[in-house]
Amino acid sequence: MPAASLPTQSATPLRLVAQSEDLDLLRSHLKGHYRSLGPGSRRLRFMGNPSPDALDQMADRASPELLLELVEDGAVRAVLEAYATSPGHVEVAISVEDRYQGQGLGRALFEEGLEVLASRGFRTADLFCLRENRVLLRLVSGTGARIHHEDGEVHVEIELDRMLDQVRPLDPLRPAA
Ligand SMILES: CC(C)(COP(=O)(O)OP(=O)(O)OC[C@H]1O[C@@H](n2cnc3c(N)ncnc32)[C@H](O)[C@@H]1OP(=O)(O)O)[C@@H](O)C(=O)NCCC(=O)NCCS
Repeated sequence: MPAASLPTQSATPLRLVAQSEDLDLLRSHLKGHYRSLGPGSRRLRFMGNPSPDALDQMADRASPELLLELVEDGAVRAVLEAYATSPGHVEVAISVEDRYQGQGLGRALFEEGLEVLASRGFRTADLFCLRENRVLLRLVSGTGARIHHEDGEVHVEIELDRMLDQVRPLDPLRPAA
């Protein structure tokens, strides 16, 4: 998949990396990114407190359907990971390095990632987060997602076509369907 830029509040280029390009490289990028997250962000991303070794193992085993990377100065600052769990369905996780949060990068990755997944034929996506994750819940609000509260966790179910119909008209750079 070729490199591409996304319209965000930051001038940072966004590089799209497909799984087939180089899985070892992709895993090493994920490993570096997981290690770069602060303790609070790790807890929100992984809904727990995995040890550094456990994080490394997760990165070493990762085999995502799609990985979108936000790269600046050669370093990965944010990723969207999507894992195919059944035909037409993916589980999505997103994380932005602490000092890059709150600049619109998470939203840009989220919307671009779901667009790419829909174009590859996926119809639904799940996200899981802690109930306290206000930023992630803000990100998915207004997408028509179904939200299920399960103890301290939240399960977000997104129908990709429905969600994209809602965000496309808001994007002035994207022609109307
Ligand atoms: C969740 C996360 C990916 C969002 O990325 P981000 O770049 O910080 O988010 P954005 O700047 O794009 O903001 C997303 C929305 O949240 C809002 N927001 C941002 N920071 C906020 C804050 N501290 N409090 C409340 N709302 C906030 C923004 O206004 C925006 O909403 P809008 O577009 O409707 O105005 C990022 O914060 C992160 O990596 N968190 C740790 C890992 C995690 O929680 N992952 C999710 C579980 S898979």
